Amino acid sequence: MNTIKTQIIAVNHESINKAAALIKSGRLIAFPTETVYGLGANALSGTAVAKIFEAKGRPQFNPLITHFLSVSDVDEHAVMNEEAMKLAHYFWPGALTMILPRKTDSDLSDLVSAGLPSVACRVPAHKVARELIKAAGVPIAAPSANKSGSISPTAPAHVAESLNGRVEIILAGGACDIGLESTVVDMTGDKAIVLRPGSITPEDISNILGYEVSVDLGDHDKPKSPGQLLKHYAPTIPVRLNAVDLEKGEALLAFGSDKFMGIKGGGAASKLSDSARKNLSEQGDLYEAASNLFSMLRSLDRPENKGIAVMAIPDKGIGLAINDRLRRAANG
Ligand code: TXA
Ligand code: MG
Repeated sequence: MNTIKTQIIAVNHESINKAAALIKSGRLIAFPTETVYGLGANALSGTAVAKIFEAKGRPQFNPLITHFLSVSDVDEHAVMNEEAMKLAHYFWPGALTMILPRKTDSDLSDLVSAGLPSVACRVPAHKVARELIKAAGVPIAAPSANKSGSISPTAPAHVAESLNGRVEIILAGGACDIGLESTVVDMTGDKAIVLRPGSITPEDISNILGYEVSVDLGDHDKPKSPGQLLKHYAPTIPVRLNAVDLEKGEALLAFGSDKFMGIKGGGAASKLSDSARKNLSEQGDLYEAASNLFSMLRSLDRPENKGIAVMAIPDKGIGLAINDRLRRAANG
């Protein structure tokens, strides 16, 4: 990735506007919330969200939390049932993240959901986070602002240590009050389930909902561990990697030029219909490819296609996460 000259700047009206402008133009900035510092990107832009994974050195596309200003903004993108509304009423703005069913017409990037039909939503209370979201005018996707595998930053200096050269601006807004990541509660099933403990406890949530919520701490930050609750999107038809030609009946997921892709037994991939041929990035741009990955897999995942043949994708930068996801699709 291109190295960036990271600026650590004190919070004021001007620096917040500067950070908001960067968000709007698809760049990464770090900002304080009441829990931990977040590494933010425009949640509506796939190429912007892809940069988060690269900056964190996350070898996988885990779904991210999207930050909104209000319940009505969340409501544009996710389905809030009565229980979700109750929790929102008591705990938003605040340190609660709800996993909600994603609305089919939501224009959030597929990458924030990692292809899942759900989206993690939070309405933060921190003044700076709120002013930033407001000034940007878009929801902000933000995991904790640290490299993958290190602990979450609760002060601007921690962010700088971890992400220097990987983020444009660090809005220095002091230490985080709570210092612990938000409580994550899954609201997509019949009953609420706490997936990540935080300052809002399962008891707090149980008290509001009127039943004892269960807790499943399955290692959802490490998607490979078994028994975890976090599911991953996988196509229903076979996926074949590093394809240099197509079997008859296979759909093509191309990367770069597919001009010379042939079909065994005769024919050219370029003659395939739109429902059997997609290109992650004709220019070979890995950010563009990441932003298209889930939607293109989904649109090729049709019963009339025998399988999906995927052309080779460079195993570097954000390509590592793309290949990780494709390998899982191929094995699963
Ligand atoms: O306090 C926080 O929540 C901070 C600040 C910046 O808001 N953010 C944060 O984000 O901790 P992150 O990406 O580091 O953690 C998101 C957690 C992960 O454990 C992820 O697996 C889970 O939420 N998650 C996100 N979307 C999900 C989904 N659709 N289904 C299940 N789990 C999801
Ligand atoms: Mg984290």
